Amino acid sequence: MNHLVSPSLLAADFGNLEKAVSMVNGSMADWLHLDIMDGLFVPNISFGFPVIRYVKKASEKPLDVHLMIVDPDRYLERFRDAGADIITVQYEACTHLNRTVSEIRNLGLKAGVALNPHTPVALLKNILPYIDMVLIMTVNPGFGGQVFISESYNKITELRGMIDRGAYKVLIEVDGGIGTDNASSLIQSGVNVLVAGNSVFNSPDPLKTIERLKLLT
Ligand code: DX5
Ligand code: ZN
Repeated sequence: MNHLVSPSLLAADFGNLEKAVSMVNGSMADWLHLDIMDGLFVPNISFGFPVIRYVKKASEKPLDVHLMIVDPDRYLERFRDAGADIITVQYEACTHLNRTVSEIRNLGLKAGVALNPHTPVALLKNILPYIDMVLIMTVNPGFGGQVFISESYNKITELRGMIDRGAYKVLIEVDGGIGTDNASSLIQSGVNVLVAGNSVFNSPDPLKTIERLKLLT
């Protein structure tokens, strides 16, 4: 399949969100990635429901919501109501992951599971039949603009093998330190969705950067 591009709004100018969302609307991006941080699971706090609701109104792209929060079950319905189309929870934040992803699907959404850099992909073996996407964190979550962790390639290759052997309909998304310099090798390793924050919003021509990320093979 052709890969998807999901620009991360975290790197946008929050004083001018409308401009950022309309840039993404007019771009070749497939989704819009929203990072939700609670100050507990990660040492940072981002934004919450009022911002998501506003972005939902302004966005023509599906909202790819990445929850870096503890015990996400508490808020799944509210994220759906605020406008999430895809909800990805962190593996490390869910005691009853099967219940959590089932709940996301019961809400009518796509369900993703994110892995921190230290979490082995082998732990996903028994959840792959129940999810739509795995997000491999390629930096330690919490901040944009960090350096890509190159060990991630081994995880992607291993996960690609697990998904293909089981013929699961599961996308592989990568998030953190992604740009036009490493996107091609990630796609060739079997990645389906590229998240890109700083490399898009801090580039001289964000529209062009999204186009380049989309057209790379
Ligand atoms: C990090 C977030 C990322 C972040 C990526 O915890 O999950 O989505 O916005 O930013 P860049 O692309 O700048 O590394
Ligand atoms: Zn993210």
